[in-house]
Parts: sequence; C-alpha cells; structure tokens
Amino acid sequence: MGNILRSRDKPLLNENSPLIGSEAKSKLKWFNLRNVLLFITLLLCILIILYGVFLIIFNKPTKTPTSRLISVATINNDYFDKCSPPVTCDPKAKYRTVNGSCNNLLNPNWGAALTPFYRYMDPVFSDGISVFRVQSDGSPLPNARTLTLTMFQDTLKICDHQNNELLVPWGQFITHDVAFSPVRSVNSSFPAALDHCEDKNPPIECEAVIRLSPDDPVYGKKNLTILKFMRLITAPAYNCTLVPATVLNTNTHYIDSSNVYGSDSDVANELRLFSGGQLLYNTIGKQEYCPQDPTKVVKKGNQTQVTIAFLAGDVNVNQNLGIALFQNLFLRFHNYLANKLQAEHPSWTDETIYQETRRIVAAVTQIITYDSFLPIILGEKYINEYGLNDETNYDPTLIASMAQEMTSGAFRLLHNIIPAQFNYMSENYTTYEVEEPSKSFLRPDTLIGNVDGFIRGLTETPGREPQPSYNNLISNIVIELPTINTTGFDLLSYDIQRGRDVGLPPYTKIRSLCGLPQAKSFDDLSDYIPSEKINQLKQFYSTVDDIDYYVGILLEDKVTGSMFGPTGSCVIADSFYRFRNGDRFFYDVKDQPGSFTSDQIQSLKKITLSHIICATSEIERIQKDTFRLIDHIRLMKLKPKCETYTINLSAW
Ligand code: HEM
Repeated sequence: MGNILRSRDKPLLNENSPLIGSEAKSKLKWFNLRNVLLFITLLLCILIILYGVFLIIFNKPTKTPTSRLISVATINNDYFDKCSPPVTCDPKAKYRTVNGSCNNLLNPNWGAALTPFYRYMDPVFSDGISVFRVQSDGSPLPNARTLTLTMFQDTLKICDHQNNELLVPWGQFITHDVAFSPVRSVNSSFPAALDHCEDKNPPIECEAVIRLSPDDPVYGKKNLTILKFMRLITAPAYNCTLVPATVLNTNTHYIDSSNVYGSDSDVANELRLFSGGQLLYNTIGKQEYCPQDPTKVVKKGNQTQVTIAFLAGDVNVNQNLGIALFQNLFLRFHNYLANKLQAEHPSWTDETIYQETRRIVAAVTQIITYDSFLPIILGEKYINEYGLNDETNYDPTLIASMAQEMTSGAFRLLHNIIPAQFNYMSENYTTYEVEEPSKSFLRPDTLIGNVDGFIRGLTETPGREPQPSYNNLISNIVIELPTINTTGFDLLSYDIQRGRDVGLPPYTKIRSLCGLPQAKSFDDLSDYIPSEKINQLKQFYSTVDDIDYYVGILLEDKVTGSMFGPTGSCVIADSFYRFRNGDRFFYDVKDQPGSFTSDQIQSLKKITLSHIICATSEIERIQKDTFRLIDHIRLMKLKPKCETYTINLSAW
C-alpha cells in the first residue's frame, strides 16, 4: 500500500514528522484509507470481470425455460406399452430413419410415424371411449356451424402491415411435416354413406356430420343439409385396441422434412430417382415439378381428365396452391443441393448424396422455423420463456411427439390468417391473376408456369391480421369436383368439430394447465375474452366448463407480440420446445453420430428461405426477412438481387 502511495502521490513529509499538525495527520490517514478502498474496489472489479470471462469460456450457462406446460395425462404410455412394434436400432446411425423410429434410443418408437399424438390432458368422451362430450346439463354441445355463424364472422378485415402472405404456406408446410391425421374414408374422399344421413336409420358414418339449417346463408341456397364431417381413423385400424379412442399420426412427429421424403420406406423409394441422390421430378416447360400422382387421374364422364395432382412425401400436397408451391420448391431445393454435393464430391454414391441432402434440407427447415417463423407468430416473450432460440439441450426423457391439443387445436389458430385471395404478380409487380384458395382446393393446376408469379404475389401481398374469425371464402366453401357430389366445407366449423372428435378437454381445463387463473364462472374469463363474446358464450354453453377448447382459444385476446392468446401461445410454444429438445437429430445437437460440425452449422445458419426461393425459382429480387412485407416502390434496396443469396457447401 505504501508503495502505491509513494509511486502515485509521493508525500513530501513523513506522517510522524513533528512538522505535521494533527489536522494534517488526520487528512493523511483519510488519504491512506481512501487509497485502500480504491484498491479493494479495483481488485473486486478485476475479480468480477475474470469470473465473467471464466463463465463465458468454460461454463456456457444452459437456460431452462421458465414456463413449461406439464402434462397431466395418464395415457401417454399406453400405446408404447401395449401396441408398439419391436424395433432394433443402430445407435451409430448418422441419418434419421424414414419413419422416425430410433431417434430416441431409450424409447425407439417415440415420435415415429403411426404412433399416437401426445396428450397434455386425458381425452374427454361422454362414454369414456369415443362418443362426443356433452354439456354439464346433459345437452349436446352447440352446433359447430351455428357457433361459426354467430360468434366468428369476418368483420375486421384488417391487413397485417408487417407480414406478407407467405407465413401461411410455411405454417402449413411445417404442419404437414409433423402431423397427418387421416379421416375414415377408405377409397374416396366422401364415402357414399354420407349421402344417407337424412335416412330414417342413418349409417354410423353420419354420427359426426354437421347439420345445416335451411336458412344457412351459404349452404341453404345450395339445398345442402349437412357438412360431411368424418371422424378420424383410430388405433384399431392399425391392429391396436386402445381405449379411449386414440388417433395415430401417419407422418413422423419430428421436424425432419418427412413431408418432402415420406414417412415410410415405400413412399420414400417411390419419390427417389436413384441417381445422383436426386428426387424424382417431372419437367414441364423446362422447370422441375413434383412427379404426377398416377392414382389421381380424374375421370369426367367417359373422358379421362388429367389435372395436376402432385406426388410428395405428404398426401396433402395438392390441398391448396400455397402448400403445393412449397412442396415443389423443396423438391427443387433437394435436387439443387444434391447437384452441388455431387459436383463437389464426385465419388459419393447416390445414397450418400441423397442422405446428406435430406439431412441438410431438414436442418434448414428447422432453422427457418425457429429463427424466422416462430419469432413472428409467438413473439419475444414466448420465445424467451420457452428458450426456443437457445442452443438445443437434447433431453432423451422428453417426447417430441406432436400433441393432440396442438394439432387438433392451437396450431390451427393460424387458419385465421389464411388470405381470401392469392395473387399472381408479374416482374413489375402488377397482379395478372387472382385465385381464391377455395377455388383451387385440391386442384393446384394454375401453379404450372406460374411459380415465380405466385412467389411474387405471396411476398408482396400483406397477410391477414390474426382475429377471431376466418376469411369468408375459406369458411364457406362449396366444393364441386367431378369425383365428389356438390358439398360444403367450412374450415372453422371443422376445427371446432375436430376437437370434439378427438375428445379435447374443455377450454377452462387447458387454460388452467397453461397457468391462467381458474375460471369458476363465465365472467372469470373477462381477463382475456371480451365481454360481448362472454355474453354469447353464455347463450350456447350451460356452464363455463363446457366451452369448447377451440372456441375459447380463438376468442382470447392476443398476447403482445404473439398472434395468439395466452392458452394458444403456451400450447404452441411448449410443442416447439419439445420438437426441438426431444429430437436427437436436431441440427445443433452435439456429440451424436448425426451431428453437424461447427463449420457446417455456421453454413446452415446462413441459409434463409430467401436463399431457397432464389435457388429454386427465377424471381429477380427478394427481401432478407422473407415473411416481412416490403414496399417494393419505396424500399427496393431492401430487396436484394437473387444473385447475392449464395449457398456455400464447402464445409461438406
Ligand atoms: C390455405 C391454407 C390452409 C388450408 C386450406 C388449410 C386447410 C386445412 C384442412 C382442410 C384441414 C383438415 C381439417 C379437418 O378435417 O380437421 C387442416 C388441418 C390442419 N391445419 Fe390447415 N390449412 C391451411 C393452412 C394452415 C396453416 C397456416 C396452419 C398452421 C400454421 C395449419 C394448421 C393445421 C393443422 C395443425 C391441422 C391438423 C393437421 C392434422 O392433424 O392432420 N393449416 N387444414
């Protein structure tokens, strides 16, 4: 200490010197004390900084989510205990299996195709087995179409000024990666039995159809009396007698691009070219498209009418133009990457190129979903609370399976942003054709030759603001296809009815599970549901505990930054937490046979949806934040040219 004093503030006199008076002595003591304090503070600061550096270098803190949804269901193991087929796994395998088995080495069937959806709560059926839930007073639940017409009409018509329409097909593309719940129709989409629902003794298939009132504003005029809603296929169809009714997911539950490659080996092989690692494709006008599905050639009268029906890893590829677009772009993306890998590694076999490409495609799909899509739909609060943008912390005790409350409930909430129209735009951004999604239902024909125009339209058109209604055109579809008699389809009514079909618990139960205060009366819902809607609910339901889960989550006010209310957000956030941390092959999981190197991860992280669009289309420019709406007139500089989006695979 003395040294410090001397070197910094050399004293002219010794403090014991008689020449120094008592005042001066006490000043000198204070001076010394101050320096001691200064020294200690300095030392402390250095220690704190060193500790921080130590933490950063040696002990990266692993964040755990602050709020997780804890399942209280008792039936989640039933299928695995009673029906699961035996599987032998190769723990050293570098690539995912086609059907998703062996991802979890302790429970090899977890997350595999043809295994049940996970449950946060046990299902509720009035007979405990499969019959629709009834209200507390014994009356049936309100008619789903009546609820739609009374409570969820498209009144706001507000555009989302931040995001474009591309969010919708991406959301649907991810959905089709992680779920498919087939309905009970064997060879045709609308079995003949449903034409007899007005008979005196209607067939069992009519048990869940949605009755229509003669004065229905849309279907009344068409003299339709029912919406031909069919129940989902349950476990006995796969030789597994489980009670209560259990639905199996026919796609893999992981975000693994099974919608591109298939969820079983036969489909996967059918889609491969078996040369250069490529997927089978159909060339039309010099462009690659998904192959034509030979089983979907439509007969009109005596004539065979060949409409476009693509074949892909997911059977819903043709459902609407948006999903058909992404299925085609990802087929092209696979082949683009496979060509690049083959050029860089001429000695690689077809199998190696195919598997490496498949692995990259799945990784990029995860990155786009977690880095670009989820922050927009869930917002910062849920991303942070559930650690969705943290490094993956693989947990073999976590089941990554899609939840029933998610697939038949919360994730459908984005049906409320489906636009009323799709625009095809030319190079100078003028619309040259408009398509209603409902008119191209199961007929993606107009996509041929229009991929670029469609991408421009999707990226240049504002999305629909999330709201408690669907656009009128997706909720009032009248389907007239040669294969199908005229029939109606109301997506919102279907979503409500589907929740009942799979026995989802009522809204208040899942709301409480998500940590919201228990609602003992209708008025307790006023924290998140507007009072006029609560008044309408009182007219339809006998008690607050009867309200359908889907009805409740669609009515909830949005949480700031999220496109959903608190219950919907919590189910969606937890599902994406499990999809990530329960997947051993997730792109940034370390020390596994399938792990990417850190250089490879760096390269993968640079690939955005805009890179994919540029690699697979002939559009000229695109914004970096692909889902954001950019005014091309004022902000053209925010839409860089496609040649600036390069994909570098030198780390392979
Ligand atoms: C034009 C766009 C879309 C159309 C026409 C559409 C249509 C449909 C239809 C017809 C069903 C089956 C309904 C049933 O019978 O239960 C369905 C299911 C579903 N949709 Fe959409 N959808 C679209 C976009 C989206 C988006 C953007 C999301 C979410 C991000 C989404 C999530 C779901 C989910 C989770 C299911 C259940 C999947 C299953 O379990 O098989 N959909 N959709």
